[in-house]
Amino acid sequence: MKKLNVRDIKKLKQKNIQVLTCYDFQTASLLNQTDLDMILVGDSLGNVVLGYDTTVEVSLFEMEIFGKAVRRGAPDKFLILDLPFGSYSTVHQGLKSATKLFQSTKCEAIKLEGAFPYQLKLIERLTQTGIPVMGHIGLTPQSVHQLGGYFTHGKNETDADRLMKEALALQNAGCFSIVLEMVEESVATQISRELKIPTIGIGSGHKTDGQVLVINDLLKLGPKIPPKFCTPIADLYEMKKVLIEKYLKDQRQ
Ligand code: KIV
Repeated sequence: MKKLNVRDIKKLKQKNIQVLTCYDFQTASLLNQTDLDMILVGDSLGNVVLGYDTTVEVSLFEMEIFGKAVRRGAPDKFLILDLPFGSYSTVHQGLKSATKLFQSTKCEAIKLEGAFPYQLKLIERLTQTGIPVMGHIGLTPQSVHQLGGYFTHGKNETDADRLMKEALALQNAGCFSIVLEMVEESVATQISRELKIPTIGIGSGHKTDGQVLVINDLLKLGPKIPPKFCTPIADLYEMKKVLIEKYLKDQRQ
C-alpha cells in the first residue's frame, strides 16, 4: 500500500479511515505490512507501556524514543506523534517541542490536545512552518485532573455546542484531521457532517470518518479490562501467560 500524505487523508473523509496506536519496532514492522492508514504513537504509551497512572507523566524524551522505534519499523506508514503534557504550555514552547519531535523521529504529523486560543495559535504556526497537526477534543486525557476524570463529553446542549465550536476552530486553524475521544455519538456524528476534514473517533460511535484504537486494548495485551468501547479481538495477555507457564513447567521436568 502506498504511503499516504495529508492530501490523501483529507480525501478519505467518510471512507472509514483506520488508525492504530503503536509503540515498538516489532509491532510497527508488522503494521507496516498491513493496509492500516495511519499509525499513532500516542502518549497512551505512558499507561500501557510505562505503567504510569496517567499520560501527564510522559515526557518529550520518551515520545522521541518510542517514536523513533516505530519509525524504524514502519517507514511506509503515515506516522503521527503526540505532543506530551507540559511540552506545549505556550506557543513558543509548543513550536520548539513539535519541531524537535518532528525532526528527530521523522514522523509525518503531530497531535495535540485541546482548542484553547493559544493552542489554535500554535496549530496555525505549526502548519505554516510545515508541520501537519491532528487535533484532539472531547476527553483529553492530559487534562484528566482539570476535567475531574474520564467521561463522555457532549451530553448536554451547551457542551455539544462547545465541542462543535472547538472542532470548527481546529479546522480553521489548519488541522488536517481531528480525534474525537469519548464524544456523545450524536454530537460526533454532527461534527463529522459539518467538518470538511476527517474526524477520527474513539469511544464516539461509528459515524466518524475513521476510528482509532489503542493496539494494546485491541489485542488485550495487558491484565486490565480494556475500555468498554473496545472489543478485543484476542486475549494475548492470557495466551502469553499460559505459554510461559507451560514453558517453565516443561523446563523444570
Ligand atoms: O494517546 C493516545 O493513544 C491517543 C488516542 C487514544 C487517540 O490519544
